[in-house]
Amino acid sequence: MNIAVAGTGYVGLVSGVCFAEKGHKVICVDTDKEKIDLMIAGISPIYEADLEEMMKKNYAEGRLNYTTEYAAAYKNADAIFIGVGTPELPDGSANLSYIATAARQIAESVEQDCLVVVKSTVPVGTNDKVEQFIKDFLTHDVKVEVASNPEFLAQGTAVRDTLKASRVIIGTESKGADDKLRKIYEPFGLPIVSVSRRSAEMIKYASNNFLALKISYINDIANLCELVGADIEEVVKGMSFDGRIGSSFLNAGIGYGGSCFPKDTKALKYLAKQYSYDLKTVGAAAEVNKKQKTKLFMKSCKRLITFQGLKVAVLGLAFKHGTDDLREAPSLDNIALLLEQGADIYAYDPAASGNLEKKYPNEIVYVHAPEEALKGANVCFIFTEWKEIKEITPDTYKKYMKTPLVYDGRNIYKTEEMKNAGVEYYSIGR
Ligand code: UDX
Repeated sequence: MNIAVAGTGYVGLVSGVCFAEKGHKVICVDTDKEKIDLMIAGISPIYEADLEEMMKKNYAEGRLNYTTEYAAAYKNADAIFIGVGTPELPDGSANLSYIATAARQIAESVEQDCLVVVKSTVPVGTNDKVEQFIKDFLTHDVKVEVASNPEFLAQGTAVRDTLKASRVIIGTESKGADDKLRKIYEPFGLPIVSVSRRSAEMIKYASNNFLALKISYINDIANLCELVGADIEEVVKGMSFDGRIGSSFLNAGIGYGGSCFPKDTKALKYLAKQYSYDLKTVGAAAEVNKKQKTKLFMKSCKRLITFQGLKVAVLGLAFKHGTDDLREAPSLDNIALLLEQGADIYAYDPAASGNLEKKYPNEIVYVHAPEEALKGANVCFIFTEWKEIKEITPDTYKKYMKTPLVYDGRNIYKTEEMKNAGVEYYSIGR
């Protein structure tokens, strides 16, 4: 099938590349000419395992292309996927201006019947409006239907999550649209769930919010564990044998970040408010998360008189391992506080240092190995569970740091092993 994809961010680009990988002919559209040229040259604008390789292969084999010329790309497409961003507005609602721009361009370009598929996360009811909007602006006498097909990929594992997704959600208002989307996904061999358009939109928010709830719940319990003398790792182990609870997304730590959970919790709360419904659980999850992000810093303030003149090693900056993304990363809140308190920060991250350097070009020393950050340090904070950081042995802290004092926001180590190595160690919920 001829597929066009609007937007080449995480969702758009990864989806486009995966459709090509499965044999469709795909053209990815973006307004950013520099980005398009980069992709034509085989360079991925985002850091994702396997993506660049697949881009090069599918481009060379003629199934994948990139353009800024949206009209030519949309004109004869069988399906157009919208994967543009829906960032958060100051009031917490989703900014739909990129969706509107894409819809308008589609309406003014299509010259044959086509299915427009919204992959972006949009408030319930948006796709009804997108369909009407496109119909209002059509310049040719063609039939355009809109379907909702939310994306569940996580950064760092985006390609795998798309090719081996737990499910494909198809939200349509007609059998024809459902059949067409099922055909597009047929080569993926994944479970497909067909629902109404509004249910599909809701499934995305309900899923992300549930995961955010799970994290905040376990962080809440972890904080209580500390107070009552229980160990969160043991508690989760015991809980996880109950199949109804499961073991995933129960890693206690310094809270969730990234481009989805913080934004989607706010957007769902905002949506509920519009219907005069107070979504209390989600509000609580967001509140717990906000506090959790700086919990370790607050703990360290009880131990230290000042950060002035102290060398502070910061290990891990990205909001999670496997990505260079710093959006809503807990490290940011802590770094701002540490700088405010006069700390000399030496930061290490295998991928995200360059992005932090844009924000703090001179205030932080960026190093290429954890040992460089730890050498002579008075305190160490761990904010991301990178493999490179997990591999640091307890002895290394003792060997390199001036005072082996470690605050671990990801519970990487067993308390006992750090104690045995002579490290003063603080983590979450233990
Ligand atoms: C998330 C969803 O997983 C994905 O399905 C959706 O499409 C987009 O949002 P992403 O934000 O990329 O994906 O990362 P994810 O792995 O879900 O982690 C989000 C945040 O939660 C990270 O900061 C991570 O460190 C944190 N987290 C995750 C925890 O603190 N504890 C956990 O147990 C799991």
